[in-house]
Amino acid sequence: MSKLVYILNGPNLNLLGKRQPAIYGYETLADVEGACTTLAAELGLELRFHQSNAEYAIIDWIHEARENAAGIIINPAAFTHTSVAILDALNTFESPVIEVHISNVHKRESFRHHSYVSLRADGVIAGFGTQGYTLALRRIATLVAEKAK
Ligand code: DQA
Repeated sequence: MSKLVYILNGPNLNLLGKRQPAIYGYETLADVEGACTTLAAELGLELRFHQSNAEYAIIDWIHEARENAAGIIINPAAFTHTSVAILDALNTFESPVIEVHISNVHKRESFRHHSYVSLRADGVIAGFGTQGYTLALRRIATLVAEKAK
């Protein structure tokens, strides 16, 4: 049974740590990847961690995940609010999907309140800072273990 989890990050998250730190904090995406890699090893999961500013790249990784992954954790960033194409891609993926937002999108501008990805996500984490990624990983581990029973 697959223990591979994809963590996918959308546009501008390459600037995490430098970008609007009052909203997104000072941790970098490399810090997030490091924390997730350490936790994945503890949980017995394998990780692929990616970021792109291009919608097609995220769609291609979702297609790749279809072949071999036990779950997807995705912070689609601004594509959350715009991308039917990412929703369609996630709808082709049959294992758990967790949507993560570093900030509490519901406390922000109204255009951030709607998420196309939430129409597919099995769970949504928002407003827990970068800790949301490790919380999502723990949830995926639980779901993978439940499926293996
Ligand atoms: C975000 C929230 C989105 O609205 C925004 O466009 C982002 C990051 C978050 O992690 O809080 O780029 O997904």
